[in-house]
Amino acid sequence: MKKLDRRAWLRTAGLTGAFSMLGGLSAVQAKDDAVAPLAATPIEDAIARLSSNENPMGPSPKARQAMIEAFEWGCRYPYSYATELAEMIAKKHGVSRDHIVLGSGSSEGLKCTALAFGLHGADIISAAPTYLSLLSYAEHFGAHINMVPLDDDLVHDLDAMGGRITNKTGLVFVCNPNNPTGTILPAEKLKDFCRDVSSQVNVFVDEAYFEYIEQPYPSMVELVKEEKNVIVSRTFSKVYGLAGVRMGYLVARPDIADRIRKKRMSMLNVLAINAAKAVLEDGKFYQASLAQNKATKQLIYDTLDDLKLKYVPSSTNFVFFHTGKDISEVIPAMLEHKVRVGRPFPPLRDWCRISTGTTEDVKLFCKGLRKMMA
Ligand SMILES: Cc1ncc(COP(=O)(O)O)c(C=O)c1O
Repeated sequence: MKKLDRRAWLRTAGLTGAFSMLGGLSAVQAKDDAVAPLAATPIEDAIARLSSNENPMGPSPKARQAMIEAFEWGCRYPYSYATELAEMIAKKHGVSRDHIVLGSGSSEGLKCTALAFGLHGADIISAAPTYLSLLSYAEHFGAHINMVPLDDDLVHDLDAMGGRITNKTGLVFVCNPNNPTGTILPAEKLKDFCRDVSSQVNVFVDEAYFEYIEQPYPSMVELVKEEKNVIVSRTFSKVYGLAGVRMGYLVARPDIADRIRKKRMSMLNVLAINAAKAVLEDGKFYQASLAQNKATKQLIYDTLDDLKLKYVPSSTNFVFFHTGKDISEVIPAMLEHKVRVGRPFPPLRDWCRISTGTTEDVKLFCKGLRKMMA
């Protein structure tokens, strides 16, 4: 990512005018010399950060503009603004607003669900490896995590997961597409599983990467509409490019949504709410994000094909590939080449997860990988 100073950032977003109206940076600093300069400094300037499945195209110019405009509401509690966003999301999914639980990223929804259904020593069934946020939080509060290995194609083994359900099971967690493997389940199989299992226990389907699925594919929100015990999470952090702004949501039957909503600890902020509203209506940015992802994913595939490294075709913004080396060697070796790759995903320690990103960063990865594998 290129380093932009604050002026350049505002210019890129076409916002110099709006910022000057607020008095400009010097006015802010003049009030208090102790205030740190506001320059937006990328965290790791010289390193291609391809470790966290972020979308470097964001925030979109419209999201930036929306956040600037929302400064004006910074003195107000966010209730009414949040209601408007929830209405928009509900409309998008064809449900009523009481089905929507907004949160600070989908992480908040994941964690509140853990609190709502994972306490008192309940069992939570999940795949391994998968996305851990809900699971580790629940475990911290006393849940028992019952992990079922992925099958040989690195896809959820739904039959085995279903077979583990007992009267102690509080929740079944399915991440689809799965992080870290990028795999999706056959749609009908997942639907049948959710329909069947949700008659006994709540099923949580994490759809953080749903927008990246290239073929027609149903969201499990369909089952929420059938009033099943199914909870779906979505995020603005991936295709919408707002990972640092923090906004996500759950879709669930109103009684379930209410139970989860009661566990929320924080309120939303008006800047994030307005940014989310802007990106929902910005089809151009959405399509550009998908196109960038597809192009850089292809660069990764081409390099892996060339190096004859096995990988799983991915329905996400990352690729999981087999290096044959322990990930504890791969992470520092790739850092030497100025690339940060994903963390270890035991038990698949000789695999590595690489996020898509800017063309420049992905090319740096491809070059570094060739050197490391030479
Ligand atoms: C599968 C999955 N779910 C949820 C999240 C959490 O994202 P956020 O809290 O930014 O919405 C991530 C983040 O990488 C993820 O990979």
